[in-house]
Amino acid sequence: MEITNISEYEAIAKKKLPKMIFDYYASGAEDQWTLQENRNAFSRILFRQRILIDVSKIDISTTVLGFKISMPIMIAPTAMQKMAHPDGECATARAASSSGTIMTLSSWATSSVDEVASTGPGIRFFQLYVYKDRKVVEQLVRRAERAGFKAIVLTADTPQLGRRESDIKNRFNLPSHLTLKNFEGLEISKMYETNDSGLASYVSSQIDRTLSWKDVKWLQSITSMPILVKGVMNAEDTLLAIETGVAGIIVSNHGARQLDYIPATISCLEEVVKAAQGRVPVFLDGGVRRGTDVFKALALGAAGIFIGRPVLYSLAVDGEAGVRNVLKMLRDEFELTMTLAGCVSLKTITRNHIITEEDMIRNSMSRL
Ligand code: FNR
Repeated sequence: MEITNISEYEAIAKKKLPKMIFDYYASGAEDQWTLQENRNAFSRILFRQRILIDVSKIDISTTVLGFKISMPIMIAPTAMQKMAHPDGECATARAASSSGTIMTLSSWATSSVDEVASTGPGIRFFQLYVYKDRKVVEQLVRRAERAGFKAIVLTADTPQLGRRESDIKNRFNLPSHLTLKNFEGLEISKMYETNDSGLASYVSSQIDRTLSWKDVKWLQSITSMPILVKGVMNAEDTLLAIETGVAGIIVSNHGARQLDYIPATISCLEEVVKAAQGRVPVFLDGGVRRGTDVFKALALGAAGIFIGRPVLYSLAVDGEAGVRNVLKMLRDEFELTMTLAGCVSLKTITRNHIITEEDMIRNSMSRL
């Protein structure tokens, strides 16, 4: 059957992948309320299309941290991609590069920064988890820099792993033929079987729970790469991030895998954008599955979005070609959304092109 939208890869990947691996990719934390809400919240935002605008030429290209890319759709860091496909992160890197967009490589990749760099040219960011052993962190950042990575995405919402119950039930563990390739030769490249989630135990023993804003300063002191903070969900943290001098903010709830009952990212975006006041770019990830979602995020002030799970599922189904197809389908849908909403470039997308639930409540109150 022909695949006509990016969500359809999930069911096919589910049939193809071992249960432990599919569950690890798919699951959210605890009741998975936020997991559903990341999607549901998009469906509560509606359009206010404009008509009779010349839409014969649409430009969806943009610039992120000074890098020109073909569209405001980028790839979020997701761990252990070789569990999905033997080509893993290298296939994703090739797909991103041939689609003219940015890939973020996870610290917990099953391919190293050098292997990914060797796939050819491309703009790549490196996602960083801060280990208790800061020497390891320094080495890793230097390697990413030397391999030509352009920015650090500091994941700030994972002092401990969220409780993902299927991983506990499945005793999730990295298959023994794979390693966390960025740490090759070190004990921390492996994960061990435990009587719950192997990854949760790994995080408890290795990841630095003392991490705070002063460590972002430390990170700035050891690298010249710009730093994006991933996991900002409110105005307070936006102001602290800007005060610390970060280059950008990613509104993210980690694909609903950390704190359950945190709102959908699209519901928090406007608060962050307002607090940022244009001083740094604000990006979003979480539940983006349609071109209409991309448009809604941009209308609420995002400079671009990242996708996570669709990359894993399409990689599992069809390797590099699958990821390329996901990027193409999302791009085509986004371009169609712009055409039908009456927008010809990203600059022409405004807050007035959408209507949120809050807008509707405010409008009906004002009529009272
Ligand atoms: C993630 N995410 C993630 N984030 C991060 O900073 N480092 C990582 O290693 C991972 N690994 C990871 C694995 C898997 C299986 C998933 C699903 C997610 C979170 C990711 O970067 C992103 O925030 C979400 O995936 C975005 O939501 P969607 O697009 O998956 O709904």
